[in-house]
Amino acid sequence: MSQLIAAGLPVLYNRQQIAARVAELGAQITRDIGDEKLVLVGVLKGAAPFLADLSRHIDVDATFDFVAVSSYGKGQRSSGAVKMIKDLDQSIEGKNVLIVEDILDTGITLSYLRKLFLQQKPKSLRIAALLDKPSRRIEKIEADYVGFSIPDLFVIGYGMDFAERYRNLPDICLMPPENVESK
Ligand code: IMP
Ligand code: MG
Repeated sequence: MSQLIAAGLPVLYNRQQIAARVAELGAQITRDIGDEKLVLVGVLKGAAPFLADLSRHIDVDATFDFVAVSSYGKGQRSSGAVKMIKDLDQSIEGKNVLIVEDILDTGITLSYLRKLFLQQKPKSLRIAALLDKPSRRIEKIEADYVGFSIPDLFVIGYGMDFAERYRNLPDICLMPPENVESK
């Protein structure tokens, strides 16, 4: 048995459920974009699997870009300060942009990115978040596309990490509470 399966982590959404929802989101985005072009901006590292899968359900002329921002460090809770570690490679001025993020949690990260990107005057700017934790919101921000809305649980897998581990789990799993830091 594999190391990760042996860990017996509780599954919140399995790979089939994720794939079905991601396909729906891709179809919806395709309809909304119509005949326009699209720049998909993935937020490293957590959004990488989501962007890879979602993009293959978006049937429009699209390009990829990636940003990396500082977030939770080795723990689980945001420090509140966001710093750009890797900026966009290409200008997004006049373009249709879709930010692709793993989780919309406090909203601090996406508020920061939205503000920064809007300064470049894109034609449109939308957000796709695989998971949304509305009860944790500090900044006023919503995603245009949400995979699953969840309560205040700490999740790992399908790109999401705990101290950089578990990103390669194919399912979205719950981090056992005994490992979760007190808030
Ligand atoms: P926000 O700035 O608080 O909205 O945080 C967003 C980022 O926090 C996400 O991109 C994730 O990287 C991270 N994050 C929030 N909740 C979780 C979780 O349950 N598991 C893993 N990472 C999380
Ligand atoms: Mg992230």
